[in-house]
Amino acid sequence: MTVVAVCSLSGAPGVTSLATAMAAAWPSGVLTVPVLVEADASGGDVAAWYGLEPGPAGLVSLAAASRTPVPGGSCAPASHETASSGSRDPVLRHALELPGGLRVVAAPSDPLEAGRAVEALARNPRLLTLGRVSVVDVGRAVPGSAGAALLRHADTAVVLVEAGQIEQAERLRVCAPVLGSLRQDGVRVGLAITGHCQHTDSEVSQVTGGLPVWARLPHDTTGAGLVRGEHHPPQRLRDRLAAWRAQRRDPDGLEWMPLIKAAKALAELCDDFDGLGLGAEKRRVLEVQAA
Ligand SMILES: Nc1ncnc2c1ncn2[C@@H]1O[C@H](COP(=O)(O)OP(=O)(O)O)[C@@H](O)[C@H]1O
Ligand SMILES: [Mg+2]
Repeated sequence: MTVVAVCSLSGAPGVTSLATAMAAAWPSGVLTVPVLVEADASGGDVAAWYGLEPGPAGLVSLAAASRTPVPGGSCAPASHETASSGSRDPVLRHALELPGGLRVVAAPSDPLEAGRAVEALARNPRLLTLGRVSVVDVGRAVPGSAGAALLRHADTAVVLVEAGQIEQAERLRVCAPVLGSLRQDGVRVGLAITGHCQHTDSEVSQVTGGLPVWARLPHDTTGAGLVRGEHHPPQRLRDRLAAWRAQRRDPDGLEWMPLIKAAKALAELCDDFDGLGLGAEKRRVLEVQAA
């Protein structure tokens, strides 16, 4: 049971992109199907990115199920879910599967609907915390908001800040005590910095009350396009060879994209927090044994 919340304090530095990439790159085991939960009160983007039709499964259904949890967290699984995976993870029941396999509990793009669902979820986060691995896109976690309340139910909170934006640096500085109080509640809190930051990790930590810098996310239009569902790897052998020759990269792999590589490293770091020092491979073996 791992809940990793990804949020910003202001601006739009790429929270949805990072949360999506982390969920997609999460080291999954036999019983661990990572799911992206879009809990942004200002409305979801993933459905629009991937052209998903609004259906019964999503943040609204998760919030509704959270309001009236049946013992054991059971409710009718969405039609696309296999009974076995759905019965093990109450969050997965409300997820759709994106091309490529990522499960997502998508938020409605309407901020009124999304806001109501996030408020309900913040009041009743039990189902969310029963999921196996949920990466939660909280969007902008304004202190006092439902999104900020959700952070308290996470095991780990990643705060994304854009370097070089003076107002973001100032917001981070003034919010440092609130983030510190999250740590007192047992939430691990760390920073991910986008853009070019001229300060060292320890300099950043000094002005943020000791928050560690967990990741530096590069600007990467190709990786961001992939996350938005726009990247189509070359299929024909001739194109693949040309891509390899041009870039000296494996056209099938994705980690040559700096954003994907950084998101994967951050996902592995967050996974390790709960891994009690076990490597992903060893945990997979334990999961198989437990299954
Ligand atoms: N590391 C990045 N490099 C380049 N573009 C990015 C990066 N991260 C996000 N973007 C792009 O910036 C825009 C906003 O990103 P998004 O993830 O929706 O931000 P937020 O959720 O904080 O509003 C999107 O068009 C996205 O593709
Ligand atoms: Mg977003």
